[in-house]
Amino acid sequence: MNIFADVIWNKANNFEGWEKTTNCTVSQTDDGLLFTFTANGPNIANRNVDIDPKQYNTLTYTYRATGPIKHHGYVFYAKDGQNFSDYRLWKLPVPKADGEWHTVTVTGDVLSKPWTWFNGGNIKSLRFDPTYTGEGTTYELRELKFSYQESAAMTFDNLVLAQLSDPQIGFKDYDAELARFRQEIDKINNSDCQAVVICGDMMHITNRETLTVFKKELSRLKVPVYIVPGNHDVAQKDSRPIFEEFFGPSFYAADMPSGGYRLIVLDSELWQHPKESETAKMDAFLQKELDAAKTADKKIILAMHAPIFIESPDEKEEYFNLPKPRRKWLLDKLKQYPVVAFLTGHTHKTFTYQWNGILFSSAETTSVSFDKVTYGFRRFVFDHDMIRYNTVPIK
Ligand SMILES: [Fe+2]
Ligand SMILES: [Fe+2]
Repeated sequence: MNIFADVIWNKANNFEGWEKTTNCTVSQTDDGLLFTFTANGPNIANRNVDIDPKQYNTLTYTYRATGPIKHHGYVFYAKDGQNFSDYRLWKLPVPKADGEWHTVTVTGDVLSKPWTWFNGGNIKSLRFDPTYTGEGTTYELRELKFSYQESAAMTFDNLVLAQLSDPQIGFKDYDAELARFRQEIDKINNSDCQAVVICGDMMHITNRETLTVFKKELSRLKVPVYIVPGNHDVAQKDSRPIFEEFFGPSFYAADMPSGGYRLIVLDSELWQHPKESETAKMDAFLQKELDAAKTADKKIILAMHAPIFIESPDEKEEYFNLPKPRRKWLLDKLKQYPVVAFLTGHTHKTFTYQWNGILFSSAETTSVSFDKVTYGFRRFVFDHDMIRYNTVPIK
């Protein structure tokens, strides 16, 4: 049996581990910690914690303050390999500067991105920012505590996912397409999307220079991104090894940040223009991943560049869809597994339909839109048996 006690810091343990101060000095008093602010952004960090966040959904702290205080406080948190960021914080109310002791309790609804607390491993570092500015402020912290309250229970079975199709920067107007892609990254960062899937064709021309530009933009994303290879990525002369050097294998699978979803990324080029051994390898990989996901009771999201079909499973073969025998092979397989969605690009035309209970989606682009719909991306909320989606437009 696992037993979890409240995690508490106060005078009894001398705020153990809370050592690293920035923009303030902190001393221990009979009551707790006394902050003296020296610049904006005062804080104290504890890099020696190991907290299973699933067991703690409530933060309680007791403080006393005087002097002009206008700003909120924060508790930042980070897991292995993470820095403190606006995407991982508890927002605390503006302190009351009346010289009285106050005990404040906040729950998961003040988390900036709740799933970043509850999912993805233990908390390894914490940072307490009593407020942002406050010349002449005194601030004392008597206790800081994480606990679990049943009434504050939140479940994070939903997955919020951004689907992008064909950024293909340089297709028609390099500068405008790059600017729209940049805007897209900003919009995603300011959204509740927990992960991003880019369904192929990153750059119109693929080489080390263009992929360097693309990767630099991607590095601004605050959530995980999953790259799907398109024909412009892996089917131009000599582009495949360069693409793989930048983004890794062309087919792979990953667990999504929440909701028990498994993403399987496929390389449609290996089905449209088969390379014997590589195609066989991907077929075996897909079979193995589908079986493993089913056994593990995961729901499956598939992503590749070219759609299986565009309007009907029986439509004739062309540049944009899969060869007929492969189409049948794949559709027969999908029916046997808990596949919820199949995300694609390549068409530069949007579509959304359901086939055998599976959502098929081709998203808006930021490059060239043949159906003249708005530029942008799709935001999906996978919520148990329901899928909601909307287009997030880019100008
Ligand atoms: Fe494309
Ligand atoms: Fe394409």
